[in-house]
Amino acid sequence: MNSAKSVLVTGGAGYIGSHACVELLQAGYRVVVVDNLENSKFEALKRVQEITDKPLTFYQVDIRDHASLADVFAKEAITSVMHFAGLKAVGESCELPLKYYHNNVYGTIVLLQVMAEANVKQLVFSSSATVYGTNPQVQYTEDLPIGAVNPYGRTKAMIEDMLRDLSAADAIKPSQSPWKIALLRYFNPIGAHESGRIGEDPNGIPNNLMPYVTQVAIGKLAQLSVFGDDYPTPDGTGVRDYIHVVDLVKGHIKAIQALQTEKFAAGGCKAYNLGAGKGCSVLEIIGTFEKITGRKVNYSFAPRRAGDLPEYYANPALALQELGWQVEKTLEDMVADTWLWQVNNPQGYN
Ligand code: NAD
Ligand code: WQD
Repeated sequence: MNSAKSVLVTGGAGYIGSHACVELLQAGYRVVVVDNLENSKFEALKRVQEITDKPLTFYQVDIRDHASLADVFAKEAITSVMHFAGLKAVGESCELPLKYYHNNVYGTIVLLQVMAEANVKQLVFSSSATVYGTNPQVQYTEDLPIGAVNPYGRTKAMIEDMLRDLSAADAIKPSQSPWKIALLRYFNPIGAHESGRIGEDPNGIPNNLMPYVTQVAIGKLAQLSVFGDDYPTPDGTGVRDYIHVVDLVKGHIKAIQALQTEKFAAGGCKAYNLGAGKGCSVLEIIGTFEKITGRKVNYSFAPRRAGDLPEYYANPALALQELGWQVEKTLEDMVADTWLWQVNNPQGYN
């Protein structure tokens, strides 16, 4: 174990954060997690340690609690931060916008203040393709304008702006340890660890397609509503770029490594798309699911969901060029791993 490489993982007990902890531990990093467990269970971190046979350090801390967070930095020799902590439900963010701005934006401000005080200035941030808003182009490149269309998306866009401003301030007032920041814009993460021990465990009725499909297939939910059959897409249903969560977190390891290379020697803040680079429709997801699992997915067509775009997917060329990262797993892998997690854990972590 290399004690010089200690990564603080905010939101490490969550869906993506727990998979990141596995990859970090397997890559030889020391892992310190802070999570308030608002949308996760400590059980996930127990299983991370089981899978890797390595320990991690956990603090049940809210990132908005400056004193407690500073205490973690004082106790642990943190060298860089992966920042996953945040709320992510688009619908809830429309009903309770201040909850989202307070958690995501204010929480990140506190984290950045504490990092600056501790002189820890390497950060990988969980951004989202949602920051592209509505765009006439369906394949997104990082240079497209930002324009989120809901409060959740705006929290991500605001945080990106703050991080770019922090980095720009280094150029005005050069610092010996400039900020080194990777903004990772995720497309649609699905799937689970191949062990079937950790995966996505949504509270209540899922909002997202994949957990909904699995709960229909296992009989927990009666029927999937396919939102829209009249989009200008090949089969009329919505098209997205689905990415296996393990591929996604491998992109984070590549990013944290890149921050330590010559490219970031003078600091900087750079955005990268993490996606497969191809679109897949709702009906293709259902078809692949039925083929892999042998289960029927009951569905019926319903009206379009407000705020949904017909089609978008990533251009992931920059991540390949600069981080040496690209997806390795197929849609079949994503479905098979999701299904193994669901069958082995019908009640999630409960
Ligand atoms: P998740 O809800 O499973 O994980 C987030 C974790 O952060 C949870 O464990 C939660 O308890 C914790 N948390 C929330 N607020 C906190 C706070 N104030 N202090 C400490 N801990 C806090 O979500 P996820 O799917 O793993 O998403 C991780 C990150 O990736 C989020 O920032 C999300 O916005 C972003 N993201 C997710 C997706 C997706 O589809 N899952 C897509 C794009 C971006
Ligand atoms: C995928 C497709 C739906 C559910 C959301 C957030 C985004 C990002 C990822 C965080 C769409 C269709 C869905 C259902 C359906 N999160 N669908 N029936 O909307 O692309 O992205 O998660 O950053 O910000 O908005 O993902 O899984 O909800 O939908 O037909 O019951 O499945 O219309 O075409 P989405 P999703």
